[in-house]
Amino acid sequence: MSQKQIVEAVDDGGDTLKFLSDNGFFIPNFPDGTGIDGVRSVKIRDDDILMCTYPKSGTHWVFERTRELLAGEIIDDHITKVEAFMEMVPEEKYTDLPSPRILNTHLLMKHLSDDVRKKKIKVITVLRNPKDVAVSYYNFLRTIPGFNYKGEWKNYVRPYFQGKFMYGSWIDYVLDWEQVKKDNPDLPVLTLFYEDIKEDQMREMRRICEFLDVKRTDDFLSKVCNNTTIAAMRTLKEDVSGAKVFRKGGVGDWKNWFTVAQNEWFDQVYQERMSDCPLQFKYTL
Ligand code: A3P
Repeated sequence: MSQKQIVEAVDDGGDTLKFLSDNGFFIPNFPDGTGIDGVRSVKIRDDDILMCTYPKSGTHWVFERTRELLAGEIIDDHITKVEAFMEMVPEEKYTDLPSPRILNTHLLMKHLSDDVRKKKIKVITVLRNPKDVAVSYYNFLRTIPGFNYKGEWKNYVRPYFQGKFMYGSWIDYVLDWEQVKKDNPDLPVLTLFYEDIKEDQMREMRRICEFLDVKRTDDFLSKVCNNTTIAAMRTLKEDVSGAKVFRKGGVGDWKNWFTVAQNEWFDQVYQERMSDCPLQFKYTL
C-alpha cells in the first residue's frame, strides 16, 4: 500500500522545508505528481531513453543536448526535461511524444518500472561532484516558489548531506546506482560526468552519439554546444515559475561556500562512505 505523508525537515538553524515522504523516499510534493507508485506503472517503450540523475547534476543541460543530437537538428523552443520528468508530471503528458522519448527522473531504480531492466532501455546518468551539487541545490531550494526555505548555508550543509532533504543523500543515490550497474551488467548505461562535459564538450557529445547510435558531424556537434550554453538556455528555458535552474554552470563554486571546517567534515563523511567506490570526481578543472 502506498504511504504518502507531508514531512518537514529542520535544518541546523531551525529553518524548515516541507516535502512528501512517498513510501519512505523524500520527493517534492508536486501538484500534478503521480508519486512513486505512478512512476512504477509508467508504460516503458523499447526505445525509451531514460536519464537518471541526482538533482543539480546537469540534467537540463544533458537533456537538451541529447534531444538535439537525437533529432539531428538545432531546436529553439522552451521545452525542457520537465516534459517527461516522471515523478512531476502525469504520464498523459508524455504518452504521445514521438519515439524515442527521453524520460527522466531523480528516483532510484527500485522505484521504476521493471520494464526498464527487462527491456534493457538505454539509461544515461549524469554525475557531478557532491560539493558543487550541494551549493547548486542550496541556491535552487531558495528560489523555488512556495518552499520559502530561508535557511543559511552554515545550517544547511550537515542535514543536506545527511539526506534530510528531498531525494535524500547524494552518497546514497550514487552508491545505489553504482550497485544497479553492477547487478545489471546487460543494462546499457552511459555514465557522464558534469565536469568532463565542461572540460571537453565535443568528446562527451561524441560519447552520447555513440551511445545513441547516431552519426553527427563535428560541425553539428559544435552547433549543438553553442545552442546549449548556459546563457542560451537561461534565455530560452528558464522556468516561468521563478525557480532558477541556470545559475553559474561551473566547476569549483563550492570553494566560495564551504568553510574549512565544513570541507573537512564532508571529506571525512565521503571517506567513510565512499572509500570502496571506484568513481573519481573532479572538484576543480
Ligand atoms: P549551478 O547551480 O552550479 O550553476 P539540473 O539541471 O540537474 O537541475 O542541474 C542544474 C545545474 O546545472 C546548475 O548548476 C545549472 O547552472 C547547471 N547548468 C544548467 N544548464 C547548464 C549549461 N547549459 N551549461 C552548464 N551548466 C548548466
